[in-house]
Amino acid sequence: MESPNAPSAGNNVPPVLSVRGLVKRFGNQVIFHDLDLDVQRGEVLGIVGASGQGKSVLLRCITGLETTDGGVIEVFERDTSGLTSAERLDMDARWGVLFQDGALFGAMTVLQNIQVPMREHLDLPERLRDELAMLKLALVGLPPEAACKYPSELSGGMRKRAGLARALALDPEIVFLDEPTSGLDPIGAADFDQLIRKLQRALGLTVYMVTHDLDSIFAVCDRVAVLADKKIVSTGTPSLLQAAPSHPWIREYFCGPRARAVAS
Ligand SMILES: Nc1ncnc2c1ncn2[C@@H]1O[C@H](COP(=O)(O)OP(=O)(O)O)[C@@H](O)[C@H]1O
Ligand SMILES: [Mg+2]
Repeated sequence: MESPNAPSAGNNVPPVLSVRGLVKRFGNQVIFHDLDLDVQRGEVLGIVGASGQGKSVLLRCITGLETTDGGVIEVFERDTSGLTSAERLDMDARWGVLFQDGALFGAMTVLQNIQVPMREHLDLPERLRDELAMLKLALVGLPPEAACKYPSELSGGMRKRAGLARALALDPEIVFLDEPTSGLDPIGAADFDQLIRKLQRALGLTVYMVTHDLDSIFAVCDRVAVLADKKIVSTGTPSLLQAAPSHPWIREYFCGPRARAVAS
């Protein structure tokens, strides 16, 4: 039977990412119980949920940074459990991750940060690696002067862009973004949303974006998946979830006092 959280794509294209029956515990604390989620190639999927529900843990489970206690995670139609280390390395090269705190290496310049995945995965001469990294810098809208700066010398928005450039270093098929606009002012956040949309269209990326930013959701997300009660309780377009909230948290989130009528 098709999962209630599978998008009604109306075709037979397999999802680029599929999670079935995921279970995750930390000691006695159950984080996920029987969690299902599908992500279609080329979509921007927003993951929302109250703080502490496990949005970051889910991202880490999917990208193999966290062990799981049950269920199946398939990416690119491959079960991610039981991969050899070479297969895992191959898979790692096909996605990029922008972590919640940006996670740039403070002792490295922006250029060196962008080159970290290139050093891990590609055997390139230094000059080519520099050229590639400069290209990624331009792609995310950073000026060439930013290349030799250290993360502490950048504004919050520039740091996020540098992190995105690093996530895009290997031309990934999927990018995972954990709260990419948190900590940015509204204009910086809106600019970043535009950038994500532009890159997604230009590069045909699949974007998995954890966010709590309603403006971002309506600006960039094709679909939203809601994490509550240890599973994905609802998926749909932002307007659909707002118009027909199927869970109390969704109602509170889209229609509560802090929600804005951004869809209208
Ligand atoms: N390494 C860990 N060890 C134990 N508990 C953890 C660990 N990482 C996260 N948690 C717990 O898992 C829950 C979900 O965390 P998180 O995914 O960071 O939430 P969110 O990103 O939705 O705000 C929290 O209760 C957090 O304390
Ligand atoms: Mg988080």
